[in-house]
Amino acid sequence: MNRAAVVAGIGSCLPARSVSNAELTTRLDTTDEWIRSRTGISTRRYADQGSATSDLAVGAGAQALKSAGQTSVDVVVVATTTPDRPCPGTAPLVASQLGMTGVAAFDVAAVCTGFLYGLANAAGLIAAGTASSALVIGAETFSSILNPDDRATSVIFGDGAGAVVLRAGDPEEAGALGPCDLGSDGEGQDLITVRAGGSRQRLSGKAPEPGDEYFSMAGKEVFWRAVRRMTESCRAVLDATGTAIGEVDALVGHQANQRILASLADSLGLPRERCLGNLAEVGNTAAASIPLALDHAHANGELRAGQRVLLTAFGGGLTWGSTVLTWPVLSRA
Ligand code: COA
Repeated sequence: MNRAAVVAGIGSCLPARSVSNAELTTRLDTTDEWIRSRTGISTRRYADQGSATSDLAVGAGAQALKSAGQTSVDVVVVATTTPDRPCPGTAPLVASQLGMTGVAAFDVAAVCTGFLYGLANAAGLIAAGTASSALVIGAETFSSILNPDDRATSVIFGDGAGAVVLRAGDPEEAGALGPCDLGSDGEGQDLITVRAGGSRQRLSGKAPEPGDEYFSMAGKEVFWRAVRRMTESCRAVLDATGTAIGEVDALVGHQANQRILASLADSLGLPRERCLGNLAEVGNTAAASIPLALDHAHANGELRAGQRVLLTAFGGGLTWGSTVLTWPVLSRA
């Protein structure tokens, strides 16, 4: 029998500081009406100076472990665009802080698709028998790389973390991850980027070109690519599993923009009300967005055991990915 990776626990963590659209209008040339109507976002959370991505990851990971009734796993994967440091990865620190010194731990860098790439990696380790359980965390302190003067990105992104525990199980049981569709297009690397600080534009002792140390996104160019790639990717996993779109009870897409999610639902032929998410309250939290949306939808009862759930994301790289599962019975931490 093939070993599947089965979702066994879920958790999330948000920093305390809430930043409303109204607060952003005090320092940026923008309006609450523009932000709500163009993105669907009302507020987002920012971590305080001095707290880092690992702090949020540990909070979400601890909840997910508790929800799964476990104190340890064989591998910890942290998907993030905003690691605590450029080197080393954040996952070993997170594993140690969760009391798991000694287990395998590594980061995944696929920007907003990072959590789905992390799930696919962990599911592969479980299928191969290398691991019997995994903690997959999407965590971001995106506020640390936002250009405070760039209204186009500052209004969109926020901080947070979400996590799931996976265990080895039967492909037919609820919670088993279906096949993952993953893709990339490096020709689009400049569309979503932090230009300086890597080996291409080195910071060794010099100041970066103005703005290059910050995250930038060509939003308009990215918008329709996001809709097209997520549509194709969703169709690939639906085809691979013989699932008709009408059988999908919930779509949890990357929480980038409400208009993107509406266009995605329309192009898949899915009623828009089946799109679940928390974009209005947390903004775009990049790699954290899908597990954070899943945890909130599970907590508020929108996501129920037995429902067929389609997950899809698109992000920098460019990267995209999707998978499908039947939502299992999970306890809340
Ligand atoms: N407040 C007010 N006006 C703003 C603004 C803001 N915060 N941000 C941009 N604008 C302005 C622009 O300057 C532009 O003005 P102009 O017409 O005078 O040039 C106008 O609004 C329209 O800008 P545009 O970029 O075309 O807006 P948009 O409707 O495409 O929305 C995004 C911008 C970023 C919200 C949207 O493009 C988006 O969500 N893109 C995709 C994001 C994504 O999927 N990323 C991948 C994963 S993270």
